[in-house]
Amino acid sequence: MKLYDVYPLFDINIVKGQGCRVWDDNGDEYLDLYGGHAVISIGHAHPHYVEMISNQVAQLGFYSNSVINTLQQDVANRLGELSGYDDYQFFLINSGAEANENALKLASFYNGRTRVLVQEKAFHGRTSLAVEATHNPKIIAPINANGHVTYLPMNDLPAWEAELVKGDVCAVMIECIQGVGGIRLVTPEFMQGLRELCDKYNTVLICDEIQCGYGRSGKFFAHQHAGIRPDIITVAKGIGNGFPMGGVIIGPKFVPVYGQLGTTFGGNHLACAAAIAVLDVMKQDALVDNAAKVGAYLMEELQKLPQIKEVRGQGLMIGMEFDEPVKDIRRKLLFEQKVFTGVSGTNVIRLLPPLSLSMAEANEFLERFKKVI
Ligand SMILES: Cc1ncc(COP(=O)(O)O)c(C=O)c1O
Repeated sequence: MKLYDVYPLFDINIVKGQGCRVWDDNGDEYLDLYGGHAVISIGHAHPHYVEMISNQVAQLGFYSNSVINTLQQDVANRLGELSGYDDYQFFLINSGAEANENALKLASFYNGRTRVLVQEKAFHGRTSLAVEATHNPKIIAPINANGHVTYLPMNDLPAWEAELVKGDVCAVMIECIQGVGGIRLVTPEFMQGLRELCDKYNTVLICDEIQCGYGRSGKFFAHQHAGIRPDIITVAKGIGNGFPMGGVIIGPKFVPVYGQLGTTFGGNHLACAAAIAVLDVMKQDALVDNAAKVGAYLMEELQKLPQIKEVRGQGLMIGMEFDEPVKDIRRKLLFEQKVFTGVSGTNVIRLLPPLSLSMAEANEFLERFKKVI
C-alpha cells in the first residue's frame, strides 16, 4: 500500500531528538528552530517526559471516559495554576481542529446561533467547521462550504462591529498571533474592543491558542498581552510535546450537560501523563519566561539584518519576511547549515523552536542564518 501523497517532503529521515536538536538516519545533527511545527514545547526526549510516559504505559495506557481518570484533573490543576485560568473548565480531545470544532459547538449550544467571524488568512484546522473557518479556499471542500463563516480584516474593529451588530453571530474565533497567516499580531486595542462587542451582542469570544499559546508568545497565552479573557480558549500542539492532544478551556458561564461533548481517545491516561510532564517542566524551568527572553533577543538581533524586510512576532513565535521567496534560504539552512525552520506562504520564514531554546542555541542559529542570507 502506498501512502496518500499529500505532503511535499524534504528528503530527510529524522530518527532521534534531544532538547533543541534532532538527528537523521545518517547521524547528521540539526538545530531545531521549527519544533516539528510548534509542537515540541519542552524539548525532545526530556527525561521527566520520557519517565512519566514510560511509567504510565507500563501501568495503564488507556481506559475509557466512562470511569474516573484522576490524571485529567491533575492536568487541569496544573494548567489552571500556570495559565491563570483556574476558574475555567477543561475538556480534553486529540488535536487542534477537534478543539476548535468543540469550541464552536459549545458556542452554538450556548447562544443558539450559527454564524462565525474569523480573520482573513485565519487557519483553524482541516475538519468540518474548523476548515470552513480557515481562510483558504483550496482546502475547503464543497461539503465544508456551508456559509457559516465571514472572513474579516485583522485589527479593523469597525468591520467586526458592523457584523456583530446584526445580533446573529454565534462566535468570533481569533488567533492573536496568526501562524499559517504569516506571524501577524492583533493589537491589544482590537482585542479589548472585540471583548466589549462580544459581551454587548452575546457572541462567544474564542481564542485559538493552538499555535501561539502554551507559553510560545512569552506569556502563557498570547491574548494575555492584551489583558483580556476570552470565553473559550483552544489548545493543542505544545500541550503534549508531540503526544497528540488538544484541549478546550471553557469559561464559567458554560454549564456542562452529560453527553453534550464526548470522545473515545481524548484525555486518555498516556496523553495525560505527557501533558502533566509538559506542565511540570514548563513550571520548573520557567519556560514561558525563557521564551520571552530568548525570543526578544532573537528578534532584536534579526532586526539588525538589512536583508530581512520585516521581523514580526512575540516570544518564540517569529516571522521574517523577505522581498523574495524564501525557498532557497530555507533549503540552504537545512541542507548546508543543518537548521530546521518553518515557512508561511512564500516569503516568510517562521521560527517555532522548543520553548527551552537557550541563548547559546539562539546565537548558534544567528551565526548559521547569517551565512545563507
Ligand atoms: C492556529 C491553529 N489552529 C488550529 C490548528 C489545527 O491543529 P491540528 O493540526 O492539531 O488539527 C493549527 C495547526 O497548525 C493551528 O496552527
